[in-house]
Amino acid sequence: MSSSEIAWPYPRYIAHRGAGKLAPENTLAAMRAGHARGYRMVEFDVKLSGDGVPFLLHDDTLDRTTSGHGRADALTWAELSKLDAGRWHSPAFAGEPLPMLEQIAHWAIANDVACNIEIKPVPGCERATGAAVALDALALWRGASVQPLLSSFSEVALAAARSAVPDLQRAMLYEHIPTDWKDRLARLECVALDTDYRELDAAIVAAAHQAGYKVLTYTPNDPALVSRLAAWNVDGIITDAIDVIRPD
Ligand code: G3P
Ligand code: MG
Repeated sequence: MSSSEIAWPYPRYIAHRGAGKLAPENTLAAMRAGHARGYRMVEFDVKLSGDGVPFLLHDDTLDRTTSGHGRADALTWAELSKLDAGRWHSPAFAGEPLPMLEQIAHWAIANDVACNIEIKPVPGCERATGAAVALDALALWRGASVQPLLSSFSEVALAAARSAVPDLQRAMLYEHIPTDWKDRLARLECVALDTDYRELDAAIVAAAHQAGYKVLTYTPNDPALVSRLAAWNVDGIITDAIDVIRPD
């Protein structure tokens, strides 16, 4: 099968963590900022609270981007929801809360924004996070015209997502593309290879397409580089530079 046969309703330009660095990452304020600059797809990171609620956070710990401390899964959702996830970025965003996946889903569906949900488990919670996020996504996007794309650096998490909800499309994330990437993607029935832009060249993109996979990349922020990736027909370009890269 060629990559052109994959159902791919997604725009090419994707706002990283919602709005790159212009707003506090992985918050509703970030999603709104990306949308205001014309982005119709967002990438964000999801993990589980101590009581199993999928919510948005990049790091394993709360310290860098919230008013909390320690491991993200040491707190219940009721405790996490009281934290400030905006003040670290700038005073204008003070009081911005951590969002549940549910809140982002409602906003994205209402605003016709496609989602790339990166499953980002805290260590040791890969299987539970993959399954819970996939099941939550299935329920939240039921009946929506564009379903979310799931991705993860964790094969265990992606395998659990596939077992729980086989029909949600998956992308495998690699910092460095392993030599046996085609076998790995085939085993997990992924539709896309998602990798650091420094791993790509025209030949690798063409080879992935020929093997039947779409290609996504993170996080090119230089316009000339982004143009080159687009010229190679990279299908998804996840960028922080939402104030510089026009998404059309
Ligand atoms: O989903 C691609 C990209 O977000 C992976 O890197 O660390 O920003 O989640 P990171
Ligand atoms: Mg991410």
